[in-house]
Amino acid sequence: MTVSLVTGAAGFIGYHLAKHLSEDPTATVICVDNFIRGERDNLYEDLTGRPNVIEYSIDLTKPDQLVKLPDNIELIYHLAALNGTQNFYERPYEVMKCSTLPIFYLLDRYRDSPSLKRFIYASTSEVYASTVRKFKWVIPTTENVPLSIEDPCNPRWSYGASKLHGEVLINSAHQSFNIPYSIIRYHNIYGPRMGDKHVIPDFAIRIKKGIFELYGHSDTRSFLYIDDAVKATVLCAHLEDTKNEIINIGGSLEISILDLAKKMMEISGLSGDMKLYPSPNGSVSRRVPSVEKLEKLVGFKESVSLEEGLKRTLDYYLK
Ligand SMILES: NC(=O)c1ccc[n+]([C@@H]2O[C@H](COP(=O)([O-])OP(=O)(O)OC[C@H]3O[C@@H](n4cnc5c(N)ncnc54)[C@H](O)[C@@H]3O)[C@@H](O)[C@H]2O)c1
Repeated sequence: MTVSLVTGAAGFIGYHLAKHLSEDPTATVICVDNFIRGERDNLYEDLTGRPNVIEYSIDLTKPDQLVKLPDNIELIYHLAALNGTQNFYERPYEVMKCSTLPIFYLLDRYRDSPSLKRFIYASTSEVYASTVRKFKWVIPTTENVPLSIEDPCNPRWSYGASKLHGEVLINSAHQSFNIPYSIIRYHNIYGPRMGDKHVIPDFAIRIKKGIFELYGHSDTRSFLYIDDAVKATVLCAHLEDTKNEIINIGGSLEISILDLAKKMMEISGLSGDMKLYPSPNGSVSRRVPSVEKLEKLVGFKESVSLEEGLKRTLDYYLK
């Protein structure tokens, strides 16, 4: 019976989340996107064509457009943001705008709503990446790590700064208007329909073309398959223990990008001479979340192994 609003529903996580929510026929799912990054492909058309899904193509940086949204929203999953490393460098102003203004406008729109039960905000490891890099903070990193931005004059940090701002803003809204929230820090979620910019789809598309080039091979990350990320997100949105908490959502297995690429080659059966290149300037060499809080508060455990998740993702990208 829950009425959920998913912003950024045409994007990667938003699409899978909205699809999952819409599988309950008693639920109503409101999908919002302005397609600055997300795609109106067949999958999105199928999703928004479902009887319990209502679509709004609106730009959340324009407050007059938010009045069109229904009043009776119970859960807001705010995932809309201008993501993508290239965007951080080339369009930092728009990155800041798309990742800050919508939060103000959504909070203003729903802060007095009697139906609102939780504001779920999608944050990122980028809010603490500078602390890990500059101050050699502990890895796996817990949620109480100090947040920082290494260099406000380097546009690379536009995204991290906007998300850091978002976390403070959500908490301020809670202090001022008693809005219940959960802040979710996603860490390298992967799966089908994730675009072509992240390391997994990027390498998949390259090897499909017979190009075995890999960037940032010695960096390490952990990855979480999209279905697990969606499950964890929905649990965080409903549980009492996750109210007004910040929670890491990610995988616990640390793997180098080179080993990840080798796994992808093995699973796909595609092989060739690898050409290795360093990661772009400003990249974070190690990033692994502590998922202790996720396990303790949410009782969440990964159900899709890296091998299985990569297989499903490669099936999608190599088709
Ligand atoms: N994918 C990950 O591993 C990851 C990691 C950390 C954080 N996050 C965060 O999770 C959220 C979802 O990530 P994703 O990978 O699905 O990103 P995505 O880029 O695929 O989706 C974001 C969507 O938001 C939409 N959008 C942007 N500005 C908008 C606006 N002004 N009005 C309406 N829609 C707008 C875009 O068109 C896009 O479809 C983002 O906030 C992202 O910062 C994701």
